[in-house]
Amino acid sequence: MIFICGIIAYIGDKNASDIVINGLKKLEYRGYDSWGIAVKSNPSLAIEKQVGKISDFHALDSLPRGCVAMGHTRWATNGSVTKENAHPHTCCKGEVAVVHNGIIENFQELKQQLAHHNFISETDTEIIAHIIEDNLKAGMSFETAVKNAITRLEGRFAIVALSNSSDKVVAARKGSPLVIGVGKDEYYVASDIPAFLEYTNDVVFMEDGDVAVISPGQGIAYTDFHGGKVSRSPTKISWSIEQASLNGYEHYMLKEIMEQRDTLAQAIVQDDAKVKKIAEMINSAHGTFFIGCGTAGKVGTVGSYVFSKVAKKHVNAVVGSEFPSYHDFLTKDTLLVCISQSGETADTLEAIEVAKKKGCKVVSIVNVMGSTMMRMSDEYLLCNSGPEKAVCSTKATTAQMAILTLLAYACAGRLDEGRRLLASVASKVNVMLDDKYTEEIAFLATKIAAHESMYIIGRGLNYPIALEGAIKMQEVPYIHAEGFAGGELKHGPIALIQEGTPCIALVANDDVKKEILINALEVRSRGGFIIGIAPQDNDIFDFWIPVPDLSIASPIVNIIPIQLLSYYTAVEKECDPDKPRNLAKSVTVK
Ligand code: F6R
Repeated sequence: MIFICGIIAYIGDKNASDIVINGLKKLEYRGYDSWGIAVKSNPSLAIEKQVGKISDFHALDSLPRGCVAMGHTRWATNGSVTKENAHPHTCCKGEVAVVHNGIIENFQELKQQLAHHNFISETDTEIIAHIIEDNLKAGMSFETAVKNAITRLEGRFAIVALSNSSDKVVAARKGSPLVIGVGKDEYYVASDIPAFLEYTNDVVFMEDGDVAVISPGQGIAYTDFHGGKVSRSPTKISWSIEQASLNGYEHYMLKEIMEQRDTLAQAIVQDDAKVKKIAEMINSAHGTFFIGCGTAGKVGTVGSYVFSKVAKKHVNAVVGSEFPSYHDFLTKDTLLVCISQSGETADTLEAIEVAKKKGCKVVSIVNVMGSTMMRMSDEYLLCNSGPEKAVCSTKATTAQMAILTLLAYACAGRLDEGRRLLASVASKVNVMLDDKYTEEIAFLATKIAAHESMYIIGRGLNYPIALEGAIKMQEVPYIHAEGFAGGELKHGPIALIQEGTPCIALVANDDVKKEILINALEVRSRGGFIIGIAPQDNDIFDFWIPVPDLSIASPIVNIIPIQLLSYYTAVEKECDPDKPRNLAKSVTVK
């Protein structure tokens, strides 16, 4: 079983189940196959589990009142979605409950050793509850029983455990994110900050190997897995509840697309000294890799074009899952620039782990402050985009592109020029995203929704945007979209063009404009319906989406109308834009 899930626990004096259910709704972007909650209500633990989205459930009268509870929202890539497999998982007597995000690699081996227990689920998580149960039977305290259990686990995990025999709640982290919100005499443990952001901004980012033992009314004691004391203190985070809520929008995806009116300006608010230091690291490295997965991988490819044009520097853009093929080329002079919204993507984290072992330096460009990637990196730049909750990445994507562009200018010794260009991008996007603009794209979406497939073509800087645009059209409205380099069409893909096939042509005012227009014409001559994303209209276009004329920064503006098209096409097809099928926001397992 592989899980990418959301965890929330509450310890305080409010009605814990209300807070946990509310928190699970906020974490649903991490998984929405099934959910469950455990409430500590003396003398027993009350457990409720359901298959489906927690947002589809309104009242949970079955749960007792209690001041301690924890919940879990699950996303399974492997194994069935059943009530039995939903968390929390309990020991045989139902006296210990565990929620877990991650994967226990030695699960089969441990399960054999626990054959005397009655297993209810197919999950790896359930073994943790049974080990704790055995430890309690052997006379250990609950705290020690949990610590001992986690020392036996191999793999990545974030867990929270409760028992009806102890006041304490024990949370542990190794490789999967876990943060603690500290309120006044109350505590929250969660996979991500939005789960408790409406209650507190004081956050402790647990480190790998940390255990937090929370005692109601007494506070938190941090130790390592073996009980050695560690010191952790809260950081005040600047995200606001408005940023983490819908704030009047019907969906997070549209809200986050529209927030690009501000987030591009926020992305370039970076410390000059830090930007120059990272530029120097890139300039002096022998071999720089831009690593990311999915959309972040496409951003890396955009970056490689921008670096080539602006900084006259060759960098290798590689997707995280393919990076193992490059391990042999890593030396202590290699630099990894890792790109990620969540900062928790397993394939990218693994690239960092390997690179660090080989003595490479690591820089990350991440949106989530305190994320694993940020903490594993020698240097980092934050995207400053605020929480991105729709599964599909939008505002973090353009922020990452802006930061890479800024770095390219810094590498060329022209940081001020880069800043001026990006400030102008930010203000032009602000003007571009008005009601008339979104209405026209919503109209186009009504046409696109009727098609099963579509194509996107670009050249040079906009070739990776064709690839990224295809991801947007696949993952949200489920259109079979493919992105191609314009020059590659005649080597195969043009055979797919039929009467009316939609094809987006990304036509920037740059050195490849003539060629991409010729490619668009080739598609049109074979019956294709050409949607031009360009600063100027052209006779070749059947539908023109205007964008500001921004030379080297054209990838940043060109992706935005495709994000909108993806959103409106999904709405037109009655697909949930925030929770696309089969996907989860943070891919924390390989
Ligand atoms: C697509 C999308 C994904 C992510 C990818 C990496 O819209 O969001 O392809 O880009 O899963 O995630 P992060 O950026 O969190 O590393």
